[in-house]
Amino acid sequence: VKKMTDCQEANSPMELYEKLTAQGDKVRALKTDKAEKAEVVAAVQMLLKLKVDYKQTTGQDYKAGCPPSETAAAVTDNGPAADGDGGEDNVDPWNVSTTNAKGVDYDKLIVRFGSSKVEKELVDRIEKVSGQKPHRFLRRGIFFSHRDMHQVLDAYEKHKSFYLYTGRGPSSEAMHVGHLIPFIFTKWLQDVFDIPLVIQLTDDEKYLWKDLISHTPVSASPDFYRNVVKIQKHVTFNQVKGIFGFTDSDCIGKISFPAIQAAPSFSSSFPQIFGGRKDIQCLIPCAIDQDPYFRMTRDVAPRIGYPKPALLHSTFFPALQGAQTKMSASDANTSIFLTDTPKQIKSKINKHAFSGGKDTVEEHRKYGGNADVDVSFMYLTFFLEDDEQLEKIRQDYTSGALLTGELKKILTETLQPMIAQHQERRKQVTDETVKQFMTPRPLNFNL
Ligand code: TRP
Repeated sequence: VKKMTDCQEANSPMELYEKLTAQGDKVRALKTDKAEKAEVVAAVQMLLKLKVDYKQTTGQDYKAGCPPSETAAAVTDNGPAADGDGGEDNVDPWNVSTTNAKGVDYDKLIVRFGSSKVEKELVDRIEKVSGQKPHRFLRRGIFFSHRDMHQVLDAYEKHKSFYLYTGRGPSSEAMHVGHLIPFIFTKWLQDVFDIPLVIQLTDDEKYLWKDLISHTPVSASPDFYRNVVKIQKHVTFNQVKGIFGFTDSDCIGKISFPAIQAAPSFSSSFPQIFGGRKDIQCLIPCAIDQDPYFRMTRDVAPRIGYPKPALLHSTFFPALQGAQTKMSASDANTSIFLTDTPKQIKSKINKHAFSGGKDTVEEHRKYGGNADVDVSFMYLTFFLEDDEQLEKIRQDYTSGALLTGELKKILTETLQPMIAQHQERRKQVTDETVKQFMTPRPLNFNL
């Protein structure tokens, strides 16, 4: 039985689907355990009620193992799809794609996942509570969705602090500019709220899904491992099947991995930082494709006596070729790497960045370009700090006053110094620094 605060979430197709899967699981378990008849009947009635809710919300019958599709979400979403393009969006932790050149329809995703929109009111509140101008990622809707942010701010106002958790699966030698988003943002949150950050590096995940080599030394963190096992004990195969679409032929490493990504959401995993306290709230800034992991985490949290982590979800960083997919380190042509030279940056942008401009200068001057599908413009929304300058670029590009080549030049000149500075700082990092960061240790901050 869910508490009042969760009512809103329970209405999304995905949440309903997950509840149904869990309830089916429960009924089966009760039967296997030969539970009291009344208890079984109550559980079955609940299951039937959920099936009716599901049918009403999605217009489809519930089928175990088949999560609700985008078309299902459209039933509850009465707003028109962007530009009438009812494009197919595919979003999970391993794949992101859409047929829409503007990118994924994020409003629909909020409905489907049952999260909340980052409204202007929340951005204003972050400004008020932190006393700082909101980061451009907040001003521009790049972190567009959340869970429980108001609760985090309420507590912070009452001097109850929180901590940050984000992560990265190392899938290639070098990171690309899209990988910077959670790090730029967590650094900002860390500075304005004066809170610690834990970063999980899931080379084990990449080993399980992509055959890359794993070096994870969990033995250094017995408390972390204890939480992993606790989570594993409280989530069934049926639940992860429902959430992640695992099948009977997926290896058991994949099936149990979500518990590893969940564990850093609980402060008791890090006694060196939190002195054994298990009640410190966690806030996870991440791209929205990671949400399934944290829906599972939030579901299990109260059952193991921990607070649910709050979330701030970002949009995807588009591939150079267009917003139909995200930038991917395993495909070098879609990416600008943090190791690229100024020359490589320039040539990749000129060669590959999808343009919303017209075919000829004359046509462009006459009809103007389309900033909404233009990858160079999209990248500027991520990295150009000045709001007025960005707005002027949009207007000039749309009117035709600014040409594609000129827009690409502005982007090149924004990225080159940013990446050069990163490389400069990267050079200062010694093996000693890495060792320090990889060692569980007390952090200098006040609870
Ligand atoms: N699964 C993420 C990836 O593939 C890595 C990750 C682990 C992560 N923990 C996280 C990302 C927490 C965001 C937040 O890269």
